[in-house]
Amino acid sequence: MIELKNVSYSVFDKDTGKNKEILKNINVVFPKNKVTVITGHNGSGKSTMIKLLMGVLRATSGEILLDGKNLNEMSIDQRAKMGITVAFQNPVRFKGLTVRDLLNLASKSKNSVVDACEFLAKVGLCAKDYVDRELDDSLSGGELKRIELAIALAKGGDVMLFDEPEAGIDLWSFDALVGLFKELKNKTVIIVSHQRKLLESADYILLLDTKKDAILGRRKDILPLLDSPKCRKLGGQII
Ligand SMILES: Nc1ncnc2c1ncn2[C@@H]1O[C@H](COP(=O)(O)OP(=O)(O)O)[C@@H](O)[C@H]1O
Ligand SMILES: [Mg+2]
Repeated sequence: MIELKNVSYSVFDKDTGKNKEILKNINVVFPKNKVTVITGHNGSGKSTMIKLLMGVLRATSGEILLDGKNLNEMSIDQRAKMGITVAFQNPVRFKGLTVRDLLNLASKSKNSVVDACEFLAKVGLCAKDYVDRELDDSLSGGELKRIELAIALAKGGDVMLFDEPEAGIDLWSFDALVGLFKELKNKTVIIVSHQRKLLESADYILLLDTKKDAILGRRKDILPLLDSPKCRKLGGQII
């Protein structure tokens, strides 16, 4: 079970000369082995929350706990070893490394060709066209995003974090993407998304709003809130 206990995160804002609070006193226990979709308007702190969970950013105050163990002082690497995996909003490019190299590194498998193909097929890419490509600017945004997802799947882990996995992915393959998350059983899956189909497939929804509240609930209880005029005013727009 991964949780945020009274977590705040602020940065120094050069323009105003003051600290800018991005997340404030957030208390969330992500339900174990369930899919939680985090949603909320642009700038509400969703990516920041993912970065805090994986260790790219350190909380200004509060604790991040995995099965009761405090992760605050743990590096990205240490957290990865504990089973926290992430796929970023903007995929990282690695010049000189092929898709196959990265998938093999991720899955730590020697059975390279078979496994690499399996993960690429899961994200809807024809393996033979991609395994030997370098992860550079010759790939489109959507292709990079899919490869990033395949790498995350290859890594596995008990806690899987996905920041806007739909970004750049054509809508006709969207159902397959939704199906992919449903297949991740026995894992705590946390997805940042604005997509209604993903929200409708979630077990739980975490709504971040402009007042820096975090509201976590079962899908059936939170979805009606998202459609309410009040929520739209707060910017919790759904597409
Ligand atoms: N290093 C930073 N310095 C100043 N502002 C930042 C910094 N990082 C994030 N922010 C701001 O914090 C807010 C939350 O960012 P983010 O977590 O990326 O939002 P979301 O993913 O919900 O769109 C945004 O207004 C963003 O501009
Ligand atoms: Mg974001």
